[in-house]
Amino acid sequence: MKKVGIALLGLGVVGSGTYRILKSKAENIKRDYGVELEVRQVLEKDLSKAEALGIDLSIVSCDIANVLNDKEISVVAEFFGGIEPAKTFLIACLKAGKSVVTSNKELFSKHWPELEAAAKETGAGIYFEASCGGGVPIIRALHESCQGNDILEIKGIVNGTTNYILSNMSEKGSDYADTLKEAQRLGYAEANPSADVDGFDSTYKLSILSSLSFRKRVPYTAIYREGISGVTKEDIKYGKEFGLTVKLLAISKNVGGKIEAHVYPAFIPDDHPLAKVSGAFNGIYVVGDNVGELMFYGKGAGDLPTGSAIVSDIVYAATHDIHKRYPFILEEEASDFNNDFESEYFIRLIAKDQTGVLSEITGILGKAGISIDSMVQKAGSHGKATIVLITQKTTELTFKAALDALKQAACIDEVANVIRVEK
Ligand code: HSE
Repeated sequence: MKKVGIALLGLGVVGSGTYRILKSKAENIKRDYGVELEVRQVLEKDLSKAEALGIDLSIVSCDIANVLNDKEISVVAEFFGGIEPAKTFLIACLKAGKSVVTSNKELFSKHWPELEAAAKETGAGIYFEASCGGGVPIIRALHESCQGNDILEIKGIVNGTTNYILSNMSEKGSDYADTLKEAQRLGYAEANPSADVDGFDSTYKLSILSSLSFRKRVPYTAIYREGISGVTKEDIKYGKEFGLTVKLLAISKNVGGKIEAHVYPAFIPDDHPLAKVSGAFNGIYVVGDNVGELMFYGKGAGDLPTGSAIVSDIVYAATHDIHKRYPFILEEEASDFNNDFESEYFIRLIAKDQTGVLSEITGILGKAGISIDSMVQKAGSHGKATIVLITQKTTELTFKAALDALKQAACIDEVANVIRVEK
């Protein structure tokens, strides 16, 4: 039986999960693909992790040369995360003709062209199913199952940490800071949560998904980004009154050749398929011009779910001599972006509880050409009232001008928050 040598760079959560799946599914892979996958080298400085998995310590080291010099290794799976040393090691592997498999969305979104160029030099493959959506098979679906379409829109919940936080705030009525602390205590959020809560992780993933969908490179730097730290339990409570659920959305659209790409918290109707994606789950909603709506759902992180996607890439790389290519990554970078995109808006205002306030507010919005879709008003204490409005569609620039006017209106004490609404 054909043997294919594998190297694992790192035995963290996903590296360990991948090793366990490779062991437990070895017989299935032999039976179904006629290939034996042999782990021949592991890079890991913590030997106890290798011992816990029963890996022979003679194949464990910290030296990439052991991988590069082993001619029997043809597939290298990387689990370090971050840019270095992952980038240098993977480019060296590709230049040595070894295919690479990774879940490293930051590396991929920032350095895909260098990786693609190195792979093209030798004909090696680069595989990254696990980089977006963890175990959800979205990369191959977009690349291999949607060729009969122009992808018009992607709308995704691609970060489990922020979805866990927002779902818990919504279910328990708790505030952001307490929910983040609880998520950190339970291991859902990192000690430094910025990559997740500030939207960077979603931006990296959206860059990859958009590039695949639109067949040109959509750099992560071109993606507008807002995180979730400004979402309050009051916003969530009022959103519920309008039948809306808040999610951190990664959205990209191809509108007449112009690309819109943004990551921000947004309200969606409770009956949208993404509204049901709760806790640490991911969901990605895709619209193609021929297939119509598609919905992908599953665990976006974790040892075995992400390991599942990694193993599928390892099996693909190990059983193909001609690897996948992404020529558009080297040939075309998207440059035609629409930054004045349209949204509806949720506006929460603290206003003076007096005659004429509502007409002043509607007057300001009306003067800017913004229609109001719905509104609630709640009398508060000390002569204040909370007014919550949902606008109809308007553009970013028009809305910003109207917001400035609202902030300056004498009847308004505070624009407490503004959140986009995606219907
Ligand atoms: N930090 C990521 C998340 C892990 O919370 O979804 C998977 O990419």
